[in-house]
Amino acid sequence: MRLWASRVLGAQGDFDVLPTIGSKELIALLPTFLEAKNVLYPEVAYPTYLVGALIARAQATAVDFDPTQWENADLVWVNSPSNPTGRIASRQELQSIIDYSRRTGAVVASDECYINFPANPDGKLPLSILEVAAGNNTGLIAVHSLSKRSNLAGYRAGLIVGDPVLINKIREIRKHAGELLPAPIQAAMTVALGDELHVHEQAARYIARRAILQPALELMGFRVEHTEAGLYIWCTRDEADMQSVEKLAALGILVTPGHFYGDAGSRHIRVALTATDAQIGEAAQRIRDSLRNA
Ligand SMILES: Cc1ncc(COP(=O)(O)O)c(C=O)c1O
Repeated sequence: MRLWASRVLGAQGDFDVLPTIGSKELIALLPTFLEAKNVLYPEVAYPTYLVGALIARAQATAVDFDPTQWENADLVWVNSPSNPTGRIASRQELQSIIDYSRRTGAVVASDECYINFPANPDGKLPLSILEVAAGNNTGLIAVHSLSKRSNLAGYRAGLIVGDPVLINKIREIRKHAGELLPAPIQAAMTVALGDELHVHEQAARYIARRAILQPALELMGFRVEHTEAGLYIWCTRDEADMQSVEKLAALGILVTPGHFYGDAGSRHIRVALTATDAQIGEAAQRIRDSLRNA
């Protein structure tokens, strides 16, 4: 796993690695493990960042991507590529978050579970915060999952990589709290992390599905925003998210309303590319047919 972290994430210097049960479970418990009192998380975000802060009875604040405006906190969640928006944080943005951590002492937890899936092969490539840290991993934890990378969601196989002091603290708590990843799953993880070919094949599948579904959504009047990486299309028709959801539901296409990820998402929808190739093709066809018959 160390080898994978240095080869694929670009981790350098002193770092540790700890397998975790899922990454959702880790995200939900990290503020508790770190005894965080003030947690920052993205304005439009995976809901477990907030839930984890609530479990820890911490103050949770949704923030946009500008660390110069952030109040002091003890834990900050970064998610690049983002679920649901597909936004990739640039090297400079990740550096500005590291600078914030150095300045304030906040721990940065960088959830990178979609890092393997750029929206198109020539586009912007997602970076791990550990690559940007260039060997000084103090205060930094990268959160990874095999659920997306290797389609192993049922295995609940995740891992954290980063600051050895923080990871050791979590390891010590877990010795007594439980949450240890079973050895057979760790063995499967080692095999999966040793192979990048299946990851590239999976990435190519999402790229192909995106190329079919995105133009159909655009024909229907959706404007695609961000969507630089990940498994989703984040788009809007400048109407309430539920109106868009209902229009697509009438065609038998199920999408997620943006407000599930925070109020700032309430005029967007998230369209997943996790259905089969045949279902994605069928969805695009239904959209085109509906426009022809309108
Ligand atoms: C941003 C993000 N982080 C973490 C997870 C959790 O994935 P898992 O618990 O399967 O590792 C998800 C799942 O959708 C996610 O979107």
